Amino acid sequence: MLKVKTAVLVSGGGTNLQAVIDASQRGELPDAELSLVVSDRRGAFALQRAEKAGIRTEYIGRDGFEQKLSALLDECGIELIVLAGFLKILSADFTEKRPGRIINIHPSLIPSFCGEGYYGLRVHEQALKYGVKVTGATVHYVNHIPDGGKIIYQKAVDILDGDTPETLQRRVMEQAEWILLPKAVEKVAKEIRYGKSY
Ligand code: GAR
Repeated sequence: MLKVKTAVLVSGGGTNLQAVIDASQRGELPDAELSLVVSDRRGAFALQRAEKAGIRTEYIGRDGFEQKLSALLDECGIELIVLAGFLKILSADFTEKRPGRIINIHPSLIPSFCGEGYYGLRVHEQALKYGVKVTGATVHYVNHIPDGGKIIYQKAVDILDGDTPETLQRRVMEQAEWILLPKAVEKVAKEIRYGKSY
């Protein structure tokens, strides 16, 4: 049975994409093939990371984004979509057509500090402002509710005295995101490959 063709959607630096590429190169994703990286931002550094790893890259601008994305996913035979620092919210129409086939990494312990408007550094700013002592990251399926789909993995990370949004973001990435996302890609790809029904 063929590996599950996987697309990663990005908007920025792509450190989570890099974690997935590195895991794949170490042989830790035996059921997933990284076939495509799509950015909604032309200059995203994530695109350079993908090119370096020999993965096809595409930029899709705002006009007709989902229509163009759907056509590209079909053309490439993509079965699994991974949102890795992808900041656009996908429509209910798009997500409902692909149940169990889209996953996202979010830099907090859902249901805290999530939903529309919570992305990137903002999430960590809000956690610090609230004064929570523990935060973390979550990988979840994507449905029509922003950050509202079924949770796949979560990992807690301590907040330390003197943390800034930047130091906290880095710790959450190192201790949680870069570990959870590759693990989740493999888990879901394996389920798709060997037929788990949704
Ligand atoms: C990551 O922290 C990711 O969890 C977050 O954006 C950052 C992207 O970094 N995503 C969200 O906030 C989605 N709501 P990266 O481009 O270096 O992977």
